[in-house]
Amino acid sequence: MGERIELGEVQETLLIPLYGRAIDAEAGSSVLRDTKAIDLVDAIDYEFTKFKGPSLSGSVLRASIFDGYVRDFLCEHPDGTVVDLGCGLSTRFDRLDNGRVRWFDLDVPDTMALRRRFFADSDRYTMIAGSLFDTDWGPTVAERPGPIFLLSEAVLLYFPDAQVREVLRRLVKQFPGSPLAFDTGGRLMMGSQDRKPVFKALPARMQWVCDDPRSLEPLGLTLRECRTFAQPQTSVARSWPARYRLLMGLLGWAPPVRTYKLNLFTTAA
Ligand SMILES: C[S@@+](CC[C@H](N)C(=O)[O-])C[C@H]1O[C@@H](n2cnc3c(N)ncnc32)[C@H](O)[C@@H]1O
Repeated sequence: MGERIELGEVQETLLIPLYGRAIDAEAGSSVLRDTKAIDLVDAIDYEFTKFKGPSLSGSVLRASIFDGYVRDFLCEHPDGTVVDLGCGLSTRFDRLDNGRVRWFDLDVPDTMALRRRFFADSDRYTMIAGSLFDTDWGPTVAERPGPIFLLSEAVLLYFPDAQVREVLRRLVKQFPGSPLAFDTGGRLMMGSQDRKPVFKALPARMQWVCDDPRSLEPLGLTLRECRTFAQPQTSVARSWPARYRLLMGLLGWAPPVRTYKLNLFTTAA
């Protein structure tokens, strides 16, 4: 019998990318080779097979594009700090650890309690239980010397526009001159979520509609890179099996898919 879990509605969505990574790791030609995801799926008592469809591979491709942003940052700043806001059961630290990075993973208390059953803090890795919308975690991270990379993957989408804008304004103030990566979804993507098999299996719904990430620049952000599934980094595309490169080269331009953007901003200095 696996670990029983009890998670809030948005928190439960972390099981989609977890299962996606496990399925990917079992495939002959894996993108992320996240074998720990297989162990986690095996250890958790949950009906993962109810998640079907393209969102599973989508979450793997998404993670690989965000990995690409973090990898580029660590190439330039090997001793830098990375903060993953709303980490879920992500294994990004294990995937990208260069032996020098200082890493913080933050998520709300019920998710963090689950995470702590499988992951442990170390001298360069710290888990923080808290909300990205609260201010108390900020000083712990902001006092780090050197550059800080902030990342929030598949989290802001679940919150209303005003709340997202408020937190983005605060991050700009608290972390001036920092890279900040997060995803945005346009109206067409949001409108299609009820038809997606994974959302038929879950009560949570995405709320934040952002048709143009550049429209966020007045909050104190500069858009550096804006990618769709059809436009991964060259090095990332090389890690994708041919079937994904081919599929995303075509499907990635389809209206709902192309309104989903994986963005890299810099906060105003
Ligand atoms: C779709 S999952 C994404 C998880 C992870 N980023 C990934 O890609 O595997 C959404 C995540 O948002 C987290 N979350 C929900 N509300 C949050 C909040 N107020 N602050 C931080 N994280 C939150 C959930 O616990 C969950 O881990």
